[in-house]
Amino acid sequence: MKYKAYLVEENGGEFIGSIKELDAPDLEDGRLLIKVKYSSLNYKDALAATGAKGVVRSYPFVPGVDVAGEIIESSSDEFIPGDKVIATGYKIGMAEFGGFGEIVHLPSEWVVKLPKNLSLFNAMCHGTAGITAAECVDKLMLGDVSNTLPILVSGATGGVGSIAVNLLSKLGYKVHAITGKPNENEMLTSIGATKIISRNDFMSEPLKPLDKASYSSAVDTVGGEMLAKMISMISNNGVVSCCGNVGGAMFTSSVFPFILRGVQLSGVDSAESPINLKIELWNLLANEWSIDLSNQTKTVKIYDIENEINKILNGEQIGRIVIEHGV
Ligand SMILES: NC(=O)c1ccc[n+]([C@@H]2O[C@H](COP(=O)([O-])OP(=O)(O)OC[C@H]3O[C@@H](n4cnc5c(N)ncnc54)[C@H](OP(=O)(O)O)[C@@H]3O)[C@@H](O)[C@H]2O)c1
Repeated sequence: MKYKAYLVEENGGEFIGSIKELDAPDLEDGRLLIKVKYSSLNYKDALAATGAKGVVRSYPFVPGVDVAGEIIESSSDEFIPGDKVIATGYKIGMAEFGGFGEIVHLPSEWVVKLPKNLSLFNAMCHGTAGITAAECVDKLMLGDVSNTLPILVSGATGGVGSIAVNLLSKLGYKVHAITGKPNENEMLTSIGATKIISRNDFMSEPLKPLDKASYSSAVDTVGGEMLAKMISMISNNGVVSCCGNVGGAMFTSSVFPFILRGVQLSGVDSAESPINLKIELWNLLANEWSIDLSNQTKTVKIYDIENEINKILNGEQIGRIVIEHGV
């Protein structure tokens, strides 16, 4: 069986992606052959497509950490052909060919049945960004976050950030959104941000060991000094969910937020989260945490992906990009 995929090949240290026709693998024990209907674009996919170190094991390679589609062949008792499924993270799009191809061959233990009330398209409007935002929000809920002060979200126009803003607003919290895009205030307000803070303004004051306690909790997708600043402004017993590093990997903090306010820094690695947590979060997103992402999502064909990859790498992407196969 032949299928089309966006294959990235290495040529003299340069990484070039193009649409190629590939042979589908034979079904192996414990695996599923899935016809991919939709995938989505995440920051990690852009890194995989451009040969960034430490993301993809070896090239040629098909990126795409997110998959939504239908089972064609199954060697698992849990799934039968025709089941609609979602798969995100683990080694998909890193060591296993991913959702930028029309067929994937995945271990069944990485795959979740599509919950009722969620379409394959909506699942990919969320994708890894959505499941990550949901896990960040879940960490805040586990910390029993108070509603007296607002919650701060960084990288607010990005995939994870915009879904976190939307979700927290849906759950009844006041959300302050930090962004580097001054023209996107309207979009951020439309998804529930109650105040928009310019990234430059936020970072303009020097970092203090302990700043005024202005926020009950925070979701940080940026890392670096932005994370340090956010931690210093969290009130007693607040939680900071930390999931990203687009703004830098290293940060400096004093111990005071932790020992004088009991602030918790809670890391999220949604790719490797246990499958039962993913099932729980997908069910929440399909039901009590259901949000409409259609205004935050642009749908593209696999032929148009390069443009979108460049935008995400330059920090210019807004909301979510869904890739539709077979059109
Ligand atoms: N740990 C996990 O499980 C997990 C899962 C998914 C993603 N991630 C990570 O989370 C981060 C966000 O992913 P994403 O898919 O949401 O990416 P994205 O769509 O590109 O969003 C990132 C946003 O961060 C802001 N930003 C970009 N460059 C920046 C810079 N130099 N300094 C400060 N802010 C900057 C921009 O928003 P504004 O212009 O609005 O500020 C940008 O839209 C990435 O680091 C990604 O690797 C982690």
